[in-house]
Amino acid sequence: MDNTVNKGLSFRRLRQNPAIRELTKEIYVLGEHLIQPCFVVDGINHREPVPGMNGVFRESSDSILQQIETDVEAGVRKFLLFGVPSKKSTRNLDFSFTAKQISEIKRRFGKDLFLAVDVCLCSSTEHGQCGVLNDTGDHVENAETVDELSRAALQYAQAGADCIAPSDMMDGRVGAIRASLDKAGLEQTIIMSYSAKFNSRFYGPFRLAADSAPKGNVILKDRATYQIDPARPTDALVSSIRDSDEGADILMVKPGLPYLDILAKLSKEIPRPWAVYEVSGEYAAIELLAEKGLINQAAGHVEAWTSFMRAGASIIITYGARYAREWLKQVNQ
Ligand code: PBG
Repeated sequence: MDNTVNKGLSFRRLRQNPAIRELTKEIYVLGEHLIQPCFVVDGINHREPVPGMNGVFRESSDSILQQIETDVEAGVRKFLLFGVPSKKSTRNLDFSFTAKQISEIKRRFGKDLFLAVDVCLCSSTEHGQCGVLNDTGDHVENAETVDELSRAALQYAQAGADCIAPSDMMDGRVGAIRASLDKAGLEQTIIMSYSAKFNSRFYGPFRLAADSAPKGNVILKDRATYQIDPARPTDALVSSIRDSDEGADILMVKPGLPYLDILAKLSKEIPRPWAVYEVSGEYAAIELLAEKGLINQAAGHVEAWTSFMRAGASIIITYGARYAREWLKQVNQ
């Protein structure tokens, strides 16, 4: 009779202490992979907290510079900026507020800082839709919206944005933006496309921060006519291939945790750099659990980030980037 309990593989041997666990770990999350989103809001003098989003604020033109300075001291070098103008209209939108913030930020922090800028119309329109509506208010006009987006992208790139990130989900916007940047001699400006962006409920806190929830007296009440249906994973693949063909340098899956299957599949099938956006509702969920003492804050965030790296992302956009150094240290990463 053979007394060996386990003749096969021992997993326990390689889990017995931190040293061997560190040596066998396949994935380390590094702060270098993270991008910090931030909001700058026209017409406010003091920054305002965003509900559910600890440590995230609607910043004023002054406070954004202080916040970025604090973040730089904490080791953050990469940002994604959302500009929220106070002047809203329905067409011929005015992008000068955001452009001005970009030049201020670049003037102050220069080359040390990588500045991506979100391009969408939802913070600028009266009705909060991501595009220009037809007269009946039941439909987003694709061509007119793409013209507005290209104009915004060009203005932001000329103001010094390193990377343009279109999040609107119109057809053909990546190609149009690339063409308008190239024509202006801005061949080096990177495009990070929200190529697999789903029509998600997890954007709730963001829409408060960016003043961008669908609203007003128009027929269209949600974003289902342009964002990807969560039940149509095929669209995520095809629209990412399309955006890559149109000239997107970086592709993205958004949200993150509920769409890890998409990230894992697409990052295998399309050999381009992949970003994932851990959106406002995902970040807030972990924060709320931690606040109630139901989860360890640092470990919870790092576990989510680890899952993104495992699924094939090389870039993680997360509201927690500014705490990464602290949290990664706490979990011994
Ligand atoms: C703008 C935009 C949204 C987000 C990024 N860009 C919201 C939306 O589509 O309604 C969501 C980001 C987040 O929830 O953190 N279109």
